[in-house]
Amino acid sequence: MTTILFTDTHQFADWLATKRDSTIVGFVPTMGALHEGHGSLFELARSQCDLVIASIYVNNLQFNSSSDFDRYPRTLDEDVAMCQSRSVDAVWAPSQLDLFPDGQQLLTTGENALEYEGRDRPGHFVGVATVVDRLLSIVAPDRMYLGAKDHQQISVITSMCGQLHQYVNIVRCPTIREHDGLAISSRNRFLTQHGRSQAPIISLALQHMIDTWRAGETEPTTLIAQATSELQNINGATVHYIAVLDGHEMQLTMSVKQGDTAIIAVSIDNVRLIDNMQFVNV
Ligand code: PAJ
Repeated sequence: MTTILFTDTHQFADWLATKRDSTIVGFVPTMGALHEGHGSLFELARSQCDLVIASIYVNNLQFNSSSDFDRYPRTLDEDVAMCQSRSVDAVWAPSQLDLFPDGQQLLTTGENALEYEGRDRPGHFVGVATVVDRLLSIVAPDRMYLGAKDHQQISVITSMCGQLHQYVNIVRCPTIREHDGLAISSRNRFLTQHGRSQAPIISLALQHMIDTWRAGETEPTTLIAQATSELQNINGATVHYIAVLDGHEMQLTMSVKQGDTAIIAVSIDNVRLIDNMQFVNV
């Protein structure tokens, strides 16, 4: 099969309408600059759906500065090739005018968007919710594949879908990591060589939190203190937050239990990196 590229939303919607009958449609929204993390979402969607659609849209609304938006990598040819290699049926890469011909009406987000990434990146989740709502309105998939790496993003999108009656089954996909444990991200390329060598400390600190909990420690503050001191070993790093959340919710946990999630955000060389891990017994 050959991956079809659509840039015109009407053509894309017409094509999709011809495919929809008794078909499970899987959707993977992305901003392009595709890497193995995205690839794993395509693979899971391919294994569970009849038709797999990827969108590529660098969403201006979710960036905190225009320079961040401008420097975001645009690699459409490589991205289509990656989609082709994972047997994605169609890539939909609309322009802003095509996606929002009526202008961008911002949605509001709820309490789960207030802390963590929401606190440090004002407006970010409003931008994410606004664009994902619009993408879903057009694709109307049965399943949407989102990466567990962006833990709070899944929570905010899930709430948005509930509030706006977007009936889609959200599939949480595992975080794909480099060999040294660093969560793969399109931002990793902005790290200096030294920063890149230090960055695996983030996933190690998370893993140590899990190990210490497995050894019997359930007090979140003790686990957070341990991770904080480990992250202080990274030269020039700023720790934005470390928290332990209740299951997949955004509330803090009182006593760490199976299924809770540790989340971390750290900037190294001014590159903001986020990661999380779930507390599960082996
Ligand atoms: P983007 O950063 O391109 O990510 C697209 C999807 O890939 C997200 O669901 C993200 O969680 C997932 N992903 C990224 N890195 C991953 C990794 N290492 N392992 C597994 N999954 C990974 O997230 C966005 O785009 C945007 O906010 C979007 C939802 C498209 C809205 O604009």
